[in-house]
Amino acid sequence: MNAPARINSALSVRDQFPAIVNWHYLDSAATAQKPQAVIDAITEAYSRDYATVHRGVYERSATMTASYEAARAAASALIGGKPEELVFTRGATEAINFVARTLPKEGRGRVLLSQLEHHSNIVPWQLAGFEVDAVPLTIEGQIDLDAAEQMVSERHRVVAFAHVSNVLGSIIDTKRAAELAHSKGALLLLDGCQAVPRMPVDVGTMGADFYAYSAHKLYGPTGIGCLWGRGELLASMPPWQGGGSMIDRVTFEKTTFLDPPARFEAGTPHVVGAIGLHAAVNWVEKLSLDAIQAHECALVAECREALRSIDGVTLYGPEDSAGIVSFNVDGVHAHDTATILDDAGVAVRAGHHCAQPLMDWLGVPATARASFAAHSDSSDIQALVRGVEQVKRIFSE
Ligand SMILES: Cc1ncc(COP(=O)(O)O)c(C=O)c1O
Repeated sequence: MNAPARINSALSVRDQFPAIVNWHYLDSAATAQKPQAVIDAITEAYSRDYATVHRGVYERSATMTASYEAARAAASALIGGKPEELVFTRGATEAINFVARTLPKEGRGRVLLSQLEHHSNIVPWQLAGFEVDAVPLTIEGQIDLDAAEQMVSERHRVVAFAHVSNVLGSIIDTKRAAELAHSKGALLLLDGCQAVPRMPVDVGTMGADFYAYSAHKLYGPTGIGCLWGRGELLASMPPWQGGGSMIDRVTFEKTTFLDPPARFEAGTPHVVGAIGLHAAVNWVEKLSLDAIQAHECALVAECREALRSIDGVTLYGPEDSAGIVSFNVDGVHAHDTATILDDAGVAVRAGHHCAQPLMDWLGVPATARASFAAHSDSSDIQALVRGVEQVKRIFSE
């Protein structure tokens, strides 16, 4: 296989991120830093264009409404969807809670998850009263789709998998996941939190029924996320929160509701969040998600090779993981590793990464995790390696 191409101008990409000067930020899987274009869009929205949406009859409000709806169209088009198929939420967590709470069970009270899911794709199903089955992983840390095929049944309403694992970076074969879910009449929900910032996504080709992601992991603002759903499914779902903006007519006797997506967006929405998300979508599209994917893939290979060359470092996950490398230094708790790395100017996440069942499967309480973004480069990996060597020195004293 040819070595994937790097983003040519990594330095100029990095220069667009004002908050990471002299800092090796390797925690983009937790939240992405923001490029100046996104910061500017948010600043302008508040300092020049601000007004509410969907209500005002004055021109500024109408313009803001158009911007808000343009953001919806862009956020949906990014993953191959239509504007009316995208519901704005507070984030991926709320998107999954929304589906779990609203989807009629129709006599199928089970959900099929996997051992590597983020808590956001476990707990909402439990709270909504679903019985949970969990697909095991392969040795490499992929969701075992052979096992999933055996496990899925007519009792499952939903199969819900992470498109990319936030700990291992494993990428699922989405088409196969859709086929196995649909073979038993179940729906496929993909948690796209870690995939959308890292690779091109097309919900149509994948055969997904629902797709969730968060803006803040895609270089956009916090407080806004997306739930894409097939049109006819959204149309069949009842409202889950009531309030302004989602109603057709309210009387004390009876209230009727708007069509999706408005039906699911009660209250004043995160208008400026949507505008920031739109700027983030434009930013990644300008760079191209193909280029970002190739760039992160090359960094993962370089990082794994460098860490593997250090004695006593255990690597987790598949070799071809998407932008995420989890590891441990033998005999050192991941929190200690991350604290020493912090002293060396390197930010990594340490802990269970909101994936305790996965930690159980790995047989460790925690891992350290380096995760890459479009602005990452070899200097980040070199700093990480120097930091890990320092961890080893300190713990061998
Ligand atoms: C795979 C995955 N799913 C869901 C979430 C939850 O995202 P948010 O906290 O933005 O709702 C995360 C965040 O870390 C994640 O990595």
